[in-house]
Amino acid sequence: MKPRLIVARKIPPAVAARVAREFDCPDPAGSDIDAEAALRQIEAHSAEALLFTSNIKLDAALIARLPATLRIAATCSVGHEHIDAAAARERGLVATNTPDVLTECTADLAFMLLLAAARRAGEYSAIMREGWRQGFGLGEMLGTRVWGKTLGIVGMGRIGRAVAARARGFGMTVLYCNRNRLPADLEQGAEFVADLHAMLPRCQFLSLHAPSGPATQSLMNAATFALLPPGAVFVNTTRGLLVDEEALLAALRSGRLGAAGLDVFRHEPAFDERFLALPNVFLTPHMGSATVETRDAMGFRALDNIAAVLGGGAAIDPLWT
Ligand code: DGY
Repeated sequence: MKPRLIVARKIPPAVAARVAREFDCPDPAGSDIDAEAALRQIEAHSAEALLFTSNIKLDAALIARLPATLRIAATCSVGHEHIDAAAARERGLVATNTPDVLTECTADLAFMLLLAAARRAGEYSAIMREGWRQGFGLGEMLGTRVWGKTLGIVGMGRIGRAVAARARGFGMTVLYCNRNRLPADLEQGAEFVADLHAMLPRCQFLSLHAPSGPATQSLMNAATFALLPPGAVFVNTTRGLLVDEEALLAALRSGRLGAAGLDVFRHEPAFDERFLALPNVFLTPHMGSATVETRDAMGFRALDNIAAVLGGGAAIDPLWT
């Protein structure tokens, strides 16, 4: 008998094919369903496993309502702020995420945003699409140089370190602020600055990679944006909740920030459309991990976790132990 699974999000074809092969699942390709629909399906199918993402907030109230058959809830994301791990633990529900496999692609997107914001990619693209016919003077439409500048990284986990590796290729000096200083082999020459307030004035570029949580909520606000050097470039690929968006909009309008590259927002997908009015912002719709290879790898990692647990073993990526 195959293990019984509910897939609460549309998943890539290769992952769906594996689901169909290895699991008893009523909808292997998955559908974007909400918590109530997922509950109904888990119940109807006596499911042992749930594959989902942040489309479902697995909070204590929902966990309390889960049918007893459910043994593992595997989110197909590295971020897991939508899961109450303590409540899962109490209920004996294994909860897992998908770290590692999305590191490089998310770092690529962060660096893409950094370059695009600094070099005015959005504006250049718009000019071409409108049918460029008039040349620019040597002093017109200039961006800011990336090579040789100083990048501050907030949160030097896997993704932060992968961004630092890319920055080294651009001759950048890398500073980082993290709960703890890393060993030298992980620092790779980056300078640890324990105090964010001390790091910000030195950052011509700033990229956020800390997880979302009470300690990082609105970490970037009017006071912290004001510490950046005028014209700094700001990048966020982690979570919108780390940023006070009113303060970000004000800093972009005033020129305190030269530009921003944003993949994440406080409200998604209904992001604050006031960003659209600002030419110095380059926007993407939460796409850090969005490559064929990485989305397949994330799906497979979630299934590996499910297979391990339902096979009687330990989860590979448990959120609690
Ligand atoms: C992640 O994996 O956390 C990505 O941001 C997608 O939510």
